Amino acid sequence: MSLLQIEGLQLQFRVDRETVYALRGVDLSVGAGTRTAIVGESGSGKTALTLSLLRLLPPNAQVKGSVRFLGRELLTLDEAALRQVRGAQIAMIFQHAQAALNPLLPVGRQIADVCRQHSGMGRAEAWERAVEVLAATGIQQAAARARDYPHQYSGGMAQRALIAMALVCEPQLLIADEPTSGLDVAVQQQVLALVEQVVARLDATLLLITHDLAVVADTCDQIIVMYAGEVMETGATAQVLERPANPYTAALLACFEQTDEARMPFIPGRTPDMRQAPTGCSFAGRCAMTRDICHQQRPQAVEVAPGHFSACHFAQEVADA
Ligand SMILES: Nc1ncnc2c1ncn2[C@@H]1O[C@H](COP(=O)(O)OP(=O)(O)O)[C@@H](O)[C@H]1O
Ligand SMILES: [Mg+2]
Repeated sequence: MSLLQIEGLQLQFRVDRETVYALRGVDLSVGAGTRTAIVGESGSGKTALTLSLLRLLPPNAQVKGSVRFLGRELLTLDEAALRQVRGAQIAMIFQHAQAALNPLLPVGRQIADVCRQHSGMGRAEAWERAVEVLAATGIQQAAARARDYPHQYSGGMAQRALIAMALVCEPQLLIADEPTSGLDVAVQQQVLALVEQVVARLDATLLLITHDLAVVADTCDQIIVMYAGEVMETGATAQVLERPANPYTAALLACFEQTDEARMPFIPGRTPDMRQAPTGCSFAGRCAMTRDICHQQRPQAVEVAPGHFSACHFAQEVADA
């Protein structure tokens, strides 16, 4: 069953007198219970996509299309109903956890507040629950640490606190946007393990944005590859990693192999100017396989194998190569 169904999603930002086309017609479906990775170079629209789902966008943003969560349209939902969905059914863990916490309130209080909003618990009970979930995320002496302010937490602890906050809501969908960026490698692994543990415990669906393909291979069963505000390829992790059907994915995998580190991959050539409305394939300018049609017509997604889609005029050829 599809938990999240996105159709024709477009997102534009007005900047000065120009338009930035951040999402250019995204179609995708995330099945309940899957662990889906979103990968793609910086600026490809990964964060924009997740923020659009919950309409957590700045005033210069305009979003069009359809986002259905459990069959319910989110893009036209009123604010009050949307607030219920945010946190209660869909929780997000952002990169830079420190910045996502309120610097003026003790960490435990922030978790307790979320808890009260969603469960109607009293103050004391919510505080107890906050301490409990902090402890569950591996924070030592949680009762004492709950009284600390965010600046007293390390980056890894702050990320744990955000995960604790997501945990109290018991969401059906957990969105984690590069949850380990900026953390030490050892801490990264602990935080990822914790995310996996929480998802398993809640029997939730995970949408994980990461540029670390090793993490994707270990953690996720589905992959969405994004580039220039479009979905280039989707499929089961093994299909996409072992038999990519899009030259962009192949390039991403190739440069990841070269760096062999959890660093941002780098593909030669420049990403397209997002202020232009698209003609043709957005990867055409950097693709080794480009032919005339690639500059003229935007490729539609084709199914190269069951459940494996690629938006490339030569998808089947690439997959068979
Ligand atoms: N508030 C904003 N105003 C204008 N452009 C933005 C804004 N936020 C993001 N963008 C643009 O939208 C595109 C997608 O950005 P983003 O979703 O952050 O990429 P990713 O998360 O994949 O690195 C980029 O071209 C970025 O510059
Ligand atoms: Mg991002």
